[in-house]
Parts: sequence; C-alpha cells; structure tokens
Amino acid sequence: MEHYIVKGGHALSGEVEIAGAKNAALAILAAAIMANEPVVVENVPDVSDIRAILQAAESIGAIVEKIDRHTFRINGAPVQDVPVDNEYIRKIRGSYYLIGALLGKFGHAEVALPGGCKIGTRPIDQHIKGFRALGADVYTANSHIIAEAEQLEGGHIYMDVVSVGATINVMMAAALSKGATIIENAAKEPHVVDLANFLNSMGARIRGAGTDVIRIRGVDHLHGTEYSIIPDQIEAGTYMFAAAATMGDITIRNVIPKHLECLTAKLIEIGCEVMESDDAVRVSASKRLRNTNVKTLPYPGFPTDMQPQITVILGLAGGTSIVTESIFENRFKYVDELARMGAQIKVEGNTAIVTGVDSYTGARIQSPDLRAGAALVLAALAAEGMSEIYDIHYIERGYEDFPEKLRSLGADIARVDTDEEQERAKRRFGMRAV
Ligand code: UD1
Repeated sequence: MEHYIVKGGHALSGEVEIAGAKNAALAILAAAIMANEPVVVENVPDVSDIRAILQAAESIGAIVEKIDRHTFRINGAPVQDVPVDNEYIRKIRGSYYLIGALLGKFGHAEVALPGGCKIGTRPIDQHIKGFRALGADVYTANSHIIAEAEQLEGGHIYMDVVSVGATINVMMAAALSKGATIIENAAKEPHVVDLANFLNSMGARIRGAGTDVIRIRGVDHLHGTEYSIIPDQIEAGTYMFAAAATMGDITIRNVIPKHLECLTAKLIEIGCEVMESDDAVRVSASKRLRNTNVKTLPYPGFPTDMQPQITVILGLAGGTSIVTESIFENRFKYVDELARMGAQIKVEGNTAIVTGVDSYTGARIQSPDLRAGAALVLAALAAEGMSEIYDIHYIERGYEDFPEKLRSLGADIARVDTDEEQERAKRRFGMRAV
C-alpha cells in the first residue's frame, strides 16, 4: 500500500517554492465555468482536489485544456445545466462551489453533497441561507443539493458564523444576480479576496472582499480573463513549521508574507527567527523552542488548517502549551497517532494540553486528514528513527510534490508502494524495519 517512509532527525535547510493556493483554486476553477468565454488560470497547484474539480467541470461540458502543469484554459460556454455527480466530486469539499457557480449561471444547480476531510460535522446551512436570501429554493433529494430560482435577486445576508465556503458560494451566485447583495460577517481569508479579484477580472462588481462586509452588484454576464492564483498560505506555513520542528533553516519562496503574519508571530513567540522579504520568508530555529497557547480563529487569526502542525512543534517545546480548536470540533484525531511517537498530549473537548517532550520516536502512523497528515510527516521528520505514514492520499489532496520538496531540503523521505520500493528506501536510509 502506498505510504511514506521517513527517517527523521535531520535539520531541514534550503529553499522551497510554494504552489498556488489549493482552496483559492477550487473556488476560482468552479467560478471559471460561469463565463461563456475562455478563462486562463495560472499557478494552479497540481494536487488531487484540483484534478477532481477539473474533472467535475468537464463532466458537465466545460472544455478544460492543460497549457502546462500549472496553467489551464477553461471554456464554460458548453457547460450544461445537468446534475454534477461523479465518484471524485463526492470526495472533495470544494465541489459545493459548483452550486454557487451554476446557480449564478443558470438559476439552477444540482450537485452531489460534498465530502472533504472528516473534521467535524461541517454543516452548509449558511450556504443555503445565503442562496435563499437571493431568492432561490434550496432542497436536497437523493443526496444531491438542488438550488433553483426563477430570477436570482440581490439580497442582504448576515452570516451567523464566519464561513469561508458560504461567503465564496454566495458571492459567486450573487455576481450574476439582479441587483445588489450585501454579505455581512463575511469571511476575510486570502482566498475569499482572490476569488473576488478573479470574478472582478471577469467583469463582476464586488467590493469589500477582505473585510467583513462584501457588496456585490449583479451583472448580466461574465467575460473571459487571465488570472494567476495567490500562493498557498497553508503550504507555506507547513514548510515554515518544518523548519521549526526540525531545528532547521528554510527559505520559503513565492509567498505573500502578509498572509503568514499570524504564523510568523507564533514562531517568533516560541523562539524561532523569521526574516521576511517581498515574496519570501526565512525561518530558522537553533535552540529548543518555548511553550505558548494557540487558539484557532477565522482570518486574520491563527488558521485551523495549521493547528495540527503547531501542536507537533509545541509537543517538542519546553513547558506546557494549550491549543484550542474553535473552528472544527473534531480536529484532534491525529493526537493518538502523535502519542505513538511519544508525544504527551491530553485532549479535553476542543482543547489540547501539550506537555513538551525532548524528542519523538519513529512509528507506524496513519493520516486522519489532509493537514493532520502533513503535521504527522513533520513529526516524523523531527523524530529519531524511522516512521511509516499511511493514508497519504489525504496529504496528496493538498500538497504538491510533498516528498520531493522535503527531499530537496535534505529530508530522508520516500513515497513507496511495493515491498521492493520499501526495502530499497530503507536500505538507502540505512534503516531496519520499524
Ligand atoms: C474552508 C477550507 C478549510 C478550512 C476552513 C476554515 C476550503 C475548500 N476549505 O472550509 O481548509 O479549514 O475553510 O478556514 O476552502 N459552518 C456552519 N455552517 C455553514 C458553513 C460553515 O456552521 O453553512 C461552520 C463550520 O462547521 C465551521 C465554521 O463554520 O465550524 C467554518 O467553516 P467554513 O469556513 O465554512 O469552512 P469550509 O469553507 O468548509
């Protein structure tokens, strides 16, 4: 079975280039089908979630041309008003963006219910509330969500919770509605802003993205455009934290340092050095890190998608830290795996009490979801001895060339499938079986 083999204990050092933001790309590629002209999207990350959304777009008629590994031309003119359902689309959370895109384009959308990482109940009531405020009927039938309206009209929506997905979805539908829409208590994440910029480059009229009030004046149609996706905040953060976890020194290129400020602040607080330049950050750690407390919050707070990674680091820091997860209720499942590596973490409700240990030891572990999977790889890189990490399909949903990039930083990591590959990797790393 495919898995990673990691021999830990090296300080990672060198430079790494960050890919386009997966979560921005999911929204932008869904929105691309709203235009009846070709749209060229650059800096698209080559990860499995993105392949799934592109397949879904093709399955309803979009013409998707791959110009190079990270650039796609998408023509939404042939898209038909048909149900979106295939084996991939049910697996990814971002598939629900096709509801907003198709509802805007046709006044009708039918999409299989979303999947994604199992990190809590993840309701979509705020998406539905938003579509209803635009005049749509929304209901479910045969595990599909159906949204339809004679005429989508602008509306005034106050989100009960700050939701990235609901903000994005309502923004897409409202872009092609009649009249003005106001979204209050909107999410402010960088990918919300990126989608608004993309839609505006297609002729939409969206103001205020990045603040908690977004105003949209509906337009009749969207035109073609060329657009480059922002760098991935979470991929960048993961490499920043890889430097901290392994006492390394990594320069992370093609980033927007502003998007990383909450991570930078925590790293400095626990004793790392962080240097920023226009489009790069360099993180180094030379002495044992200190404890701190972390609470996940909507942007610009500490992202829930970095919570497992910081817990891995705090598990090795001096003293006791408290990590509070306030976004998703079920996001500490990886703690049991980390405990097998020697971590001392007690979870009580949405809080983890982390008592730093001197080191982790290699173990055979499973990724419970995308970000926790990446965090466990960081733990394995910091650990003494060898680890085997299974269920890496989660990690591959969101990290382009993860083992390759880590290897370029000096990590001993191999993606193996067969027994021979496994033995070869172990021999290369000079290790016996776990
Ligand atoms: C997106 C990201 C995910 C990230 C999360 C929070 C994508 C594809 N995924 O997920 O990586 O972890 O933002 O930054 O971009 N909620 C409701 N009702 C709703 C919608 C959400 O109660 O209708 C709640 C959720 O249960 C959660 C909170 O709102 O507690 C935030 O969720 P949301 O921002 O919507 O996350 P996603 O868009 O699913």
